[in-house]
Amino acid sequence: MGKGVLTARNFAADGGARTNATSAEVFTRDTEGLRCEGVALSTIADDAGTPCFVYSSAAIRSQYERLYSAVKQVDARLHYSVKANSSIAVLSLLRELGAGLDIVSGGELYRALQAGYNGRDIVFSGVGKTEREIEEALRAQVLMFNVESEQELHVIQDVATRLDLIAPVALRVNPEVLVDTPHPYTRTGEKGMKFGIPFDEALAVAKVASSLANLQLLGLDMHVGSQISQFAPYEVGLQRLLHLRREIERETEARLEYLDIGGGLAVTYDVERSVDVERFGEVIAALVGGSGLKIILEPGRFLVGNAGVLLTRVLYRKRSGGKEFIITDAGMTDLLRPSHYNAFHRIEAVNPTGKTTIADVVGPICESGDFLALDRQVDDAQPGDLLVVRSAGAYGFVMSSNYNSRPRAPEVLVDGDRYAVVTRRESYEDLIRNEIHRPDWRS
Ligand code: LLP
Repeated sequence: MGKGVLTARNFAADGGARTNATSAEVFTRDTEGLRCEGVALSTIADDAGTPCFVYSSAAIRSQYERLYSAVKQVDARLHYSVKANSSIAVLSLLRELGAGLDIVSGGELYRALQAGYNGRDIVFSGVGKTEREIEEALRAQVLMFNVESEQELHVIQDVATRLDLIAPVALRVNPEVLVDTPHPYTRTGEKGMKFGIPFDEALAVAKVASSLANLQLLGLDMHVGSQISQFAPYEVGLQRLLHLRREIERETEARLEYLDIGGGLAVTYDVERSVDVERFGEVIAALVGGSGLKIILEPGRFLVGNAGVLLTRVLYRKRSGGKEFIITDAGMTDLLRPSHYNAFHRIEAVNPTGKTTIADVVGPICESGDFLALDRQVDDAQPGDLLVVRSAGAYGFVMSSNYNSRPRAPEVLVDGDRYAVVTRRESYEDLIRNEIHRPDWRS
C-alpha cells in the first residue's frame, strides 16, 4: 500500500470526512481525468493496480439517507441486503448510518458480526438454510428468520428445541405478482418460483408455525424481484400480505409485529428514469400507515449499485472479422453481469481521447461469453489507457470468481479526499491456499 492509504481498520475507527452526494456528483472529471469524490481514479489505479473496484462512501450515504427519509414516516428500518456488496468496510459504513442487515448464509452472518452488527440487527432470509446456519443464527439471536417452507419451520423448531431457545420467525410468502425486471433471473415473486411459500398455502403454514412450541411467528415477508422500477408489484404484494395478516390473526394466536417488504428498488444503469423514492415512500405509507406493523426493507443494489466502478486497463486492441476489440484486464471473472444477464454497464475512459470507436469490450478469459460490452460506441482507448465500468458497486465483486486461476480484484473505498484498500488483491498463494499438495488418501 502506498503513502496515504488507510487500512480498513483505522478507516473504520476514525470515521473519516463526512461527505454526501449523489452518484452523479461523486464521479466527476477534472484535468486529472475521472475522479471518485476527491480522489483521481488514476491515483488509485497506480496504487492498487487494475482491475480494481472503487466505491464512494458519499454515494452510499446519500442513497441511504434518500431512502430512509422517504420511508421514515412509517416505522421502518433499512436492512441492507448483504449479498449486493458484502465488504466489511461497506457493512461498517452502513452500520454507522443505522442500517440493519438482511443475510442469506452463515458466511454473511459471520461478516455481519465481524462488521460489528448485533443479532437484533439481522434478518435471515434464503430458501435453503442448513441446520448449521440455523444454529449459528439462533446463537447470534437474529431478529428473525424469513422462512420459505413448511419443512424449514420444522427444522428451525428442532434446532431451537435442542438449544432450548425460542426462534422468532416470519413467513416469506410468494405474493404471486407479475414483475417486470430486465432479466427473468431477477424475478422472484411470480407464481411457480422457488422462493417463498405459495400464497394459497401461507395461512396453513402460519397455523403450523403458531402451533410449534419453540417458534414465535412475528411477521410476514416478501421479495418480489430485483431492479424493479414500478410500484405496482409492491402495492399488490403488500395488499396481499396485509390481507393474510388479518386472516392469520383471526385464525391463530399469533400477533404479528413485522412486515418485511424485501428489496429490489432499481438504479439507473444507463438513461432510465430513476426511481422516485419519495413517491415510493408515500405508496408504502398509504398502505401500511396505521397498521401498527414495523416495516423492514431489504435494499441492496439501491444503496451501493451506483456507488461503485470497476477500474480496468486496456491491454490490447485488435480487429477480427471486421470488428474492433478492446481487450481489458477485467473480464467476466470480475464483473459477471454483462455475460450472465446481458446487463448493460456504461463504460468510460478515465482520460478520454476525444475520439470514439464502435467495439466489443472483452476480457482475458478463455470464453466467448467473456465481455463487458458488445458493439458499443466507446472511447477509442489504446493499450495502457484506463476505463471504468460504471454501476459496479452491487453484484460486482461478490459475484467474481477465480476462473482461469485469476486472483480476485481489490476493493477500494473512497471518502472525501482519501481512500483505503479495504480488500487486498488475492495472491497466487491465496489461489491454492486450501489445496492439499500431498493428498491424505483414506479408505
Ligand atoms: N432480499 C432478498 C430476499 C433478495 O433475494 C434480494 C436479492 C434482495 C433483498 C436485494 O435485492 P436488490 O435490492 O439488490 O435488488 N445478481 C443479480 C441480482 C440478484 C438479486 C438476488 N436477490 C444482479 O446482478 O442483478
